[in-house]
Amino acid sequence: MLKRLHHVAMVVPDLKAASSFYSDVLGADVSDAFALSEHGVSIVTVQLSNVLIELLHPLGADSPIQKFLEKHPSGAMHHLCFEVDDVELASQKLQEQGVRVLNDGIPKIGMESVPVIFIHPKDTMGSLIEFQNII
Ligand code: CO
Repeated sequence: MLKRLHHVAMVVPDLKAASSFYSDVLGADVSDAFALSEHGVSIVTVQLSNVLIELLHPLGADSPIQKFLEKHPSGAMHHLCFEVDDVELASQKLQEQGVRVLNDGIPKIGMESVPVIFIHPKDTMGSLIEFQNII
């Protein structure tokens, strides 16, 4: 089922500081910050040759990552995202094996404008895992 690792998302308390850490200290190729209001996040992407890193900061009062940042005020890794051929089929197969797929297993349109699902961290030994269709 699993193809490539597509991205690793980190929630950070200060997007500017995180961005300059990756660009100035680590010398990585960093995007400008941009808002994804429909997802309640501000984001900076760090493009490596094999994987993308997403630096996320809450945007707006209802941000889905606000509570996570309150729990981890210094910032922390939020989720991994793996590519799959067909996210709907992946959702079905995972549920058949007793894995809880969030949003009742129904894919949502993610940040990369492709369908995504998330599976419950309690079913993955502690990590929030996202799946998205191969871009
Ligand atoms: Co993601």
